[in-house]
This record gives sequence, structure tokens and C-alpha cells, in this order.
Amino acid sequence: MKILIKNAEIITMNENDEIIYGDLLIEDDRIVEISKGIDGVLADKIIDATGKTIIPGFIHSHIHLCQTLFRGQADDLELLDWLAKKIWPLEAAHDEESIYYSAMLGIGELIQSGTTSIIDMETVRYTDHAFQAIAESGIRALAGKVMMDQGEGVPVNLLENTQESIQESVDLLEKWNNFDNGRIKYAFSPRFVISCTENLLLEVRDLSKHYGVMVHTHASENLKEIEIVEKERGLRNIVYLDHIGLANPQLILAHCVWVDQEEKRIIREKGVKVSHCPGSNLKLASGIAETHDMLENDIFLSLGADGAPCNNNLDMFNEMRLSALIQKPKHGPTTMDAHKVFRMATIGGATAMGLEKEIGSLEVGKKADVVILNLNDFHTYPSNDVDPISRIVYSATRGDVETTIINGKVVMENRIMKTIDKKI
Ligand code: GUN
Ligand code: FE
Repeated sequence: MKILIKNAEIITMNENDEIIYGDLLIEDDRIVEISKGIDGVLADKIIDATGKTIIPGFIHSHIHLCQTLFRGQADDLELLDWLAKKIWPLEAAHDEESIYYSAMLGIGELIQSGTTSIIDMETVRYTDHAFQAIAESGIRALAGKVMMDQGEGVPVNLLENTQESIQESVDLLEKWNNFDNGRIKYAFSPRFVISCTENLLLEVRDLSKHYGVMVHTHASENLKEIEIVEKERGLRNIVYLDHIGLANPQLILAHCVWVDQEEKRIIREKGVKVSHCPGSNLKLASGIAETHDMLENDIFLSLGADGAPCNNNLDMFNEMRLSALIQKPKHGPTTMDAHKVFRMATIGGATAMGLEKEIGSLEVGKKADVVILNLNDFHTYPSNDVDPISRIVYSATRGDVETTIINGKVVMENRIMKTIDKKI
């Protein structure tokens, strides 16, 4: 199958940040040519993108699809109360069907807002059904079942014993890792340190090495969380993760709001990946992560919206804008500029997934995860003076996403979902 996109403004996000005006040819799941005047005779489908902008699909590096149905449930609580009073009871009440629909609902919103890949943390039970939704929808995902074998106030059916947690995770990994030619990958997903015994975390460390898969967890999101880790394990959160051998390039940490210089050094030196979730950090009153400082420390940063109830919005336009805006009052207008946050939302996310050679930019040989934006209808003053990336970050919305292509397949076209509407 060959798809030719013609006459677009192509924001490549390649090494030189090139913007090319021309055509992009997809063959099966890959980009095979980017140039001017590609002949469409042999293409199965030609999309006229005159006056439109194409970008690499957004990569959302921390989400809980299972929480989409809980939108509006954040109230004015902070993290630990919100988990105990709202999220854990709701996750405990999930069944096979509700998990599936929650995942489909979230994926629909993601695809409509230009996200083509996710790093997804599910819940304790029924994760198989979330994988089913991921498989059917066509979205690219690194996902896993949440692991939690300890914790106060956790409903009984969210608690598992260590062996059960590991066995179920391994069963899911064996079923789903590398499904559909690698579109789906498995990540071990211990919830956060205070939900996990040290034994469980040590097993996760060994299993992730054994299978060569990522580990995805929350870390240092909230001051009370850090206090509990220090009290229980005698070390600061990330120092502890390093101490037990989990800090390595296979580790993705969501949040990292409260990390000191020593922890930043560990993150940098061990090649740990960070998912910054600005909307969630504001909504749950967790704090403002020092992303400018992390970037200066050469830490790999990516962007996520977290679960739907954290900020009622899974869309990357919102998250990019927030991540730039929250730094401006304290650090000035350019410290976290549009280009930095756009990088986080694209190639930064690809790096978090360990897929920077495959996705995150529009380059020949990469997987065809492509989004077409129509920035003309609602933006009144297109001008040659406007930086296209700045225009996207500060003014584009989900309504500007016209077409989403994942792995060379059109999953939404002219705002009409191709793959999943009938299932929701
Ligand atoms: N920390 C542990 N679990 C969660 C969760 O579900 N959401 C967020 N934001 N933080 C967490
Ligand atoms: Fe989260």
C-alpha cells in the first residue's frame, strides 16, 4: 500500500530541525521518500495537503487508559487522597467490558488529537482487555499491567501477592510483547515505590533485563509520597531506585517533580527517561517540575497528560502549551520555548519508548506515524513571519487535526475515525 501526501509544509523534527515544502511517500508501514514533485502514478491513495502542515505523530509518554472513564473525578484532592478516595475504588470496580471501553474512549480522543503512540499504565486486573482495545484501534503502545503488592487503604481486589503480580505480568508480556510486528510492546509497570515490596521491584529489575523490556513507574510526584519512601526505605526515591539497580536506560519515570541535584545526576548518568506531566502536576497540586533545569542537565524529557481525571484532557496541544507556560513567570519567556516542548512531544517521547530510531520524526526509513494539521480554518493570520512550531504550540487545538496515520494506516481521515468509532 502506497500513500502519497502532496504539497505539505513538512515539520520533520530531524537532526537539523528541517522544514520541507513538498511531498511525503509512505509504503506499507514506512516513510520511503520526502521530496518535491513525487510522481503519484503508482500510489494507492493521494492526499492533497496543499496549505496544510504535517508533523510526526505525538508520543504521549504517560497515560492510564483505564482511567478515561473516571474523567471529572479529581475534585480538589491531592495525589494520595485522590488515589485512596477515588482512583483505587474506581479501578477496583472495573470489569472486562469497562476496561475495554475506557481504553477505546481514551484512544479515540488521542487519535483525534494527533497522538500516534502512548506509554500506558493499566490497572491490576483485566489489562488483557485494554491490550485488546490497543490492538484493534491501531495505536502504537508500550503498555503494561499495574503491579501493586502492598499499600494502606488499597481495595482488596487491587492488591496482589508478589508472585501473582509477576506471573500475570509475564503472561501478558508473552501474549502482547511485539504484537503486530512490534506496534505493541510490553512494559513492567510497578505503580510506585510505596505500592511495591522490595522483592517485587527486584524481580521486575531482573525480568526487564531478561526480556529486554522497559519498566514504567511513577516517581517523586508528591512530597508526601517521597516522605513515605524515605521513611520506609531509608533513601530518597530515585536514590533508592538506583540503589536496587532499577536506574538504567530501560526505566521511564512519570512526573519527577521533586528531584534534587543528586537524583538528577543519577537520572542523567544512568540514562533514565522522564515523562513530564504538567497538567496533572497542577491539578493534583503536586508542584512544578524543573524541566528547564533537567534539560540543561541533559536529561531525556518527554510529555504526558497522565490519566483523564488528572486534567480532563488527554491532548498533547494542551500539555505542550502548559509545559511552556508554567516556566515563563519564573524563568522568562524563552527558557522553555515552543521548540523544546515540541521536541519533548515528538522525538523526546520516541526516546522514552526506546524507539528513537523508528518514530518521533519524519525521515526516510522511519515508521509512518504522521499527522496532517489544517491550521488555516481557525487561524486568521497565516504569515510568513510566524514560526510554524510556535504557531502549533501556542495556537493549535485538537480541532486542527485532520488526518492521523499510524504505522502507514489511516486511522482518522477528515476528522472521521476509521478504526474504532463503531466499537465505542
Ligand atoms: N501514583 C501512583 N498511582 C498513580 C496514578 O494512578 N496517577 C498518578 N498521577 N500518580 C500515581
Ligand atoms: Fe500516572
